[in-house]
Amino acid sequence: MKIKIVKTSSPKEKPDPSTLGFGKIFTDHMFIMDYDVDKGWHDARIVPFGYLSIHPASTCLHYGSEIFEGLKAYRRADGKVQLFRPLENIKRMNNSAERLCLPQIPEDVALEVLTTFVELEQDWTPSAPGTSLYLRPFMIGNDETLGVHAVHHATYMIIASPVGSYYKEGINPVRIMIEDQDVRAVRGGTGYAKCGGNYAASNRAGQRAEEKGYSQVLWLDGVERKYIEEVGAMNVMFKIKGKIVTPYLSGSILPGITRKSCIEVLKSEGYEVEERLLSVDELSQAMTDGTLEEAWGCGTAAVVSPIGELCYKQHRYIVNEGKIGPITQHLYDTLTGIQWGKIEDKFGWTMPLK
Ligand code: PLP
Ligand code: COI
Repeated sequence: MKIKIVKTSSPKEKPDPSTLGFGKIFTDHMFIMDYDVDKGWHDARIVPFGYLSIHPASTCLHYGSEIFEGLKAYRRADGKVQLFRPLENIKRMNNSAERLCLPQIPEDVALEVLTTFVELEQDWTPSAPGTSLYLRPFMIGNDETLGVHAVHHATYMIIASPVGSYYKEGINPVRIMIEDQDVRAVRGGTGYAKCGGNYAASNRAGQRAEEKGYSQVLWLDGVERKYIEEVGAMNVMFKIKGKIVTPYLSGSILPGITRKSCIEVLKSEGYEVEERLLSVDELSQAMTDGTLEEAWGCGTAAVVSPIGELCYKQHRYIVNEGKIGPITQHLYDTLTGIQWGKIEDKFGWTMPLK
């Protein structure tokens, strides 16, 4: 794919790493390409970061025709920058696109435009501990009509943001409220797709939890409100009676790449990992009888986030005395070790850039 590059004439100053936070600062450029049914993907270009001009009837503004991805570029100790499992994000983006009737991007094209863009912006990858360059590919349906149908025009973009930790708590345990009213997604819906609408639907419960002093909610399934699904915008795992348990990918859960990586690390080390239905009653029982040993969320932004407290129907349970547990810490150390190139990547997950 030919990519036209127009460089900015006014590069910005790189931020002080202590001020990073998550997704507030953006790099100098952005990648854009357009699609229509006749021409396919065309006009691939990297241009100075800036505002978009969009038709007021554009499909994405009215009918939620939007999907996105999230992955990171990491700076290794030797100065090189590397991606973590980028093809997994590309495959998931195409699965999301299929669900929302947005166009597919051939995997080789998606990888080529991603690496070209990140290679251009790689100086923005910070080197302070725990920091990285968060990459946000996204696609919008862009027909200029109010008709409701599968789109004929789309735009695909990638923006990049140097980031620190996602939660202000960092790797410290967070307090989580089990949500028994709102649901995030239902089987047959869009839960397994990374589409903006899922996040819009989850904000109300997240806001209520925050008002009560919790960081996020633990979602229950959309049919019976009985089975555990995810935590906030992360997958969730538990250690119960010595075994690792995580909800199986039912269709309403996002197939996380960090989840997949945690399972692969644990299995390679001989741990038993059960991907199955886990009811909130079973979890409550394990909390009450003390057999819930650890709980953590996992996702690209936070990597691994220990859960120190769970609240269900006014009952508060402290997990592992509110401290990070050994498996959670081990997963954090292993994944971040591979991502930042501090330990050997025996899985072949990293892709160094030129
Ligand atoms: N679940 C949801 C709803 C998410 O938004 C994310 C974040 O991407 C995840 C889980 C974790 O997925 P990954 O590990 O691929 O970042
Ligand atoms: C994650 O990377 O874990 C996320 O959920 C990203 C979030 C900002 C949508």
